[in-house]
Amino acid sequence: MRLDVVTIFPEYLEPLNVSLVGKARTRGLLDVGVHDLRDWTHDRHNTVDDTPYGGGPGMVMKTEPWGEALDEVLADGYEAGAGAPALVVPTPSGRPFTQELAVELSSRPWLVFTPARYEGIDRRVIDEYATRMPVYEVSIGDYVLAGGEAAVLVITEAVARLLPGVLGNAESHRDDSFAPGAMANLLEGPVHTKPPVWRGRGIPEVLLSGHHGKIARWRRDEALRRTTAHRPDLIERTAPEAFDKKDREMLSILGWAPDPEAGRHGRFWRRVEDVEE
Ligand SMILES: C[S@@+](CC[C@H](N)C(=O)[O-])C[C@H]1O[C@@H](n2cnc3c(N)ncnc32)[C@H](O)[C@@H]1O
Repeated sequence: MRLDVVTIFPEYLEPLNVSLVGKARTRGLLDVGVHDLRDWTHDRHNTVDDTPYGGGPGMVMKTEPWGEALDEVLADGYEAGAGAPALVVPTPSGRPFTQELAVELSSRPWLVFTPARYEGIDRRVIDEYATRMPVYEVSIGDYVLAGGEAAVLVITEAVARLLPGVLGNAESHRDDSFAPGAMANLLEGPVHTKPPVWRGRGIPEVLLSGHHGKIARWRRDEALRRTTAHRPDLIERTAPEAFDKKDREMLSILGWAPDPEAGRHGRFWRRVEDVEE
């Protein structure tokens, strides 16, 4: 996979040299190019921003440097045979970044990131490139950062660990929270390692039983418990067919009951008496 990042703070992307992403680069699984937007300015002050049309506070990133930068980066990638590009635009007004979107992005051969500063990039830049390639406007959460570089690091790490060969054990993201399939709408439960007793705290016995079926069930129950505690909205969103008989038993212990109108909504809801508590 090829990644290009155009930014006014190339040094902010240094973490792409370490850990999992750094190793993937060294092993040739990821080809990362970080480009300084100011290389495409032509005035003495390397200006990349200007005042907003319509007035108001803050500055807006100018069309010209972004257009020239993206044209050159794209031409370079096409020449190198990088395949079809997709533009990833970090913005708090984008669609939420989810594991599902990480999986989708990981299937693309080439991502071009445009982390902005100030009040963002002149809209015409996004509209221009949207006529040539898929554009993903992505938010990493309901808060506002000073710039998109941290979002690029977040997205890149989530995408890179899904690439074939990047994780030592290809199975290790199968049971992650949000992983597509059985865990699609569940958070992963607790994990433990040696020693068997630490400060008087032991390991749940089932984990020492060697009984794979029972361990899988315990993990699923813990995932249901944790999701109930931290993200009940995920359970509310899940179609009832996703829960087997044992799931339903556990959900009932955790205070969930099928919606009397489940046929219509296809949802589980918290029991009324629990909501009132
Ligand atoms: C100060 S923010 C601009 C916020 C903009 N005025 C708004 O309210 O949508 C500057 C840049 O940081 C990045 N950014 C800030 N918060 C983000 C978030 N939650 N997800 C992704 N990128 C974000 C974007 O690149 C954004 O253009």
